[in-house]
Amino acid sequence: MILDARALRDAFLPQELYHRNNEIGHISSCLRPIQDDLSGEHALITGPSGAGKTTLARYVSQQLETQTLGVRTGYVNCMSANTTTGAVHTLLRDARVGLDLPRDSTARSEYFERVRTTDDQLVFIVDEVDIFDD
Ligand SMILES: Nc1ncnc2c1ncn2[C@@H]1O[C@H](COP(=O)(O)OP(=O)(O)OP(=O)(O)O)[C@@H](O)[C@H]1O
Ligand SMILES: [Mg+2]
Repeated sequence: MILDARALRDAFLPQELYHRNNEIGHISSCLRPIQDDLSGEHALITGPSGAGKTTLARYVSQQLETQTLGVRTGYVNCMSANTTTGAVHTLLRDARVGLDLPRDSTARSEYFERVRTTDDQLVFIVDEVDIFDD
């Protein structure tokens, strides 16, 4: 019996993640410099399907956003983007950056320039990234 149908939505985040304290601690330490207005470290999350990779990334970035002013998170599932530039477009839109940049005629370098010139700290979650060779 399904007790809470919201749990079946892609965007659902459990209030607590069980048995993931080490992983939460590790990703948090990668992102911690952001709280001092420095660059965070990249983190690569791997594991079997259903292990909680997407949930972990969203959970930790949401905690960071809650605890730190001026942090914005962008999320993309690369399986729903046809190209890497399309994935970058979706990432920025989700983080509410460069909303004026048209999807079909914006070069990747223009998106990156927006990222560089944004005052807020940006955290990007690039899910299912292994589908792209580059
Ligand atoms: N630590 C946890 N405690 C409780 N529920 C969890 C935990 N981690 C993930 N879940 C739940 O388990 C399900 C699968 O998690 P998730 O989609 O993050 O896995 P995934 O590793 O990204 O899978 P895939 O490789 O298929 O994308 C989701 O419903 C999520 O809410
Ligand atoms: Mg996933």
